[in-house]
Amino acid sequence: MAKNDELKKTSQIPEEPEKKKKKSAYISGRDSRRITRFNRKVTKKLEKQRAAANKNPDLYMTRMRDQNNVVEFDNVCTYFFTDIGTVKAVDGISFDVPKCSTVGVVGESGCGKSVTSLSLMQLLQRPTGQVVGGEIRLNIGNGQAYNIVNTPMEKMQELRGNSISMIFQEPMTSLNPVFRIGFQVDEVIKLHNPDMTDEEVKARTLEMLELVGIANKEGVYSMYPHELSGGMRQRICIAIALACSPGIIIADEPTTALDVTIQAQILDLLQNLKDKINSSIMLITHDLGVVAGMADYVVVMYAGRVIEKGTAEDIFHHPAHPYTIGLMKSKPVVGKKVDELYNIPGAVPNPVDMPNYCYFRDRCEMHCDMCHGKYPPEIKISDTHIVSCYRYYEEGQILGYPKTVNVEDL
Ligand SMILES: Nc1ncnc2c1ncn2[C@@H]1O[C@H](COP(=O)(O)OP(=O)(O)OP(=O)(O)O)[C@@H](O)[C@H]1O
Ligand code: SF4
Ligand SMILES: [Mg+2]
Repeated sequence: MAKNDELKKTSQIPEEPEKKKKKSAYISGRDSRRITRFNRKVTKKLEKQRAAANKNPDLYMTRMRDQNNVVEFDNVCTYFFTDIGTVKAVDGISFDVPKCSTVGVVGESGCGKSVTSLSLMQLLQRPTGQVVGGEIRLNIGNGQAYNIVNTPMEKMQELRGNSISMIFQEPMTSLNPVFRIGFQVDEVIKLHNPDMTDEEVKARTLEMLELVGIANKEGVYSMYPHELSGGMRQRICIAIALACSPGIIIADEPTTALDVTIQAQILDLLQNLKDKINSSIMLITHDLGVVAGMADYVVVMYAGRVIEKGTAEDIFHHPAHPYTIGLMKSKPVVGKKVDELYNIPGAVPNPVDMPNYCYFRDRCEMHCDMCHGKYPPEIKISDTHIVSCYRYYEEGQILGYPKTVNVEDL
C-alpha cells in the first residue's frame, strides 16, 4: 500500500491546467504547411528507426511478462499523422490476452478497436499510421516473444496466419471475387506448409471446410464467393483464419454483416473451433450481447484508451466506470418495459485535440472535484477488475498512468 500512497501523493491532481479549447476547427494555409512539414519529418524519422530496429533482434525479440498470455499490449500508442494534425487513435493502452480465452474489446465507433488489432497484425497504413510507443508482445513459446512493433516484415509474413490470424467484418470484401474458394484456402495452407503436396493441401482444405460446417465441401471448393450466402462466406473466412491453427484469432466485428440467426451460428462455431485448436480470440464488437455470451474477459475502450477491464462477470455485473455503466443502462432488457432507452449525453472529444483531463468528463454525470485534475490513473478495485476513474481513487490501488508520447519529442 506504501507505493499506492506515494503515487497518490505525487499525482498532483489539482495542479493540471486545462487546455484552452480552440474556437474553430479551421486550419490556415500556414498551419496546413507546418503540419505537412512536421508529418514528413516525423514519419521519415520513424521509418528510419523502424528499419534499424528490424535488423536488430535485441529490439524485436523480447520476453513475456506472463507465460500464460498469448499477447500482451503494453502502453501501446498508435498515431496517424494526418493533414489536420496527429490523430492519437490508440494512446497508451495495456491489456493481456490469456491463452485459450476469449477477450472482448468493446467501445463506440472510432475509439480505436480496429487500430489496436491492425497494430497487432502490423497492417497499419504506413507511413501515415505508426506505432510510436509501447510494446506488443506475441508469445512464441519457450519463454520467447516477438515485439510486434519492431518485427521485420519477413517475420510478420510467417507469423500472420501461423500465429495470429484475422477475421474481418465483411466476408465479401475479404475474399477475392475472381478466385474460387478452394484456391483461396489452398493458398494459405500452401504458403505456410511449403512441403505439402497439392493433394495434401486439397485434403486439408476440404477438412477445414467440413470443420466450419460446410456440407457440400467438394461443391463449395470449386465455387466463387458470389455463389455463397453471407454466412457461408464468413465460414470460409473462418476456415482460412484457422487453417494453420494460430495461437490468437482476431475477429473484428465478425457478425455485423450477418442476420441474427446466422450471427449465433457463426459465434458458436468460432467458440467451438477455438477450443478444438486451443487458441484465443480477441473479439472486437459493438454488440454487448455478443461479448456477454462469449467473452471470458472484457476490455472497454473510450477515445483511444482502455477505461475499464476485467472478467465478463466484473464488467456485466459490477460495471465501475460511468461510461460502462451508461453502456449497460442503454441496452434493452427482455421483460423490462421502458418509454425511452437511456443514451449517454454528448460526444467523444476531437481525436486531434484531446483534453488533458478525463476524456469522459464532459459527458460524465458522476464527475467530482478530482476530475478537474489530469487524466485518471489505472486503479485496481479487485484482483481482476481495473478502472480509470477518480471515483475509486481513495479505496483502490493505483497502478499508474497510461504512457502517452509527446509527438514534438519524436
Ligand atoms: N488510416 C487512417 N488515417 C487517419 N485516421 C485513422 C485511420 N484509421 C483510423 N483512423 C482514426 O483512428 C480512430 C480509431 O479508428 P478505429 O477504426 O480503430 O475505430 P473503431 O473503434 O474500430 O470503430 P468502428 O467501431 O467504427 O469500427 C478514429 O478516430 C479514426 O478516424
Ligand atoms: S474520472 Fe471523473 S469525469 Fe472521469 S469518468 Fe470518472 S467520475 Fe467521470
Ligand atoms: Mg473498427
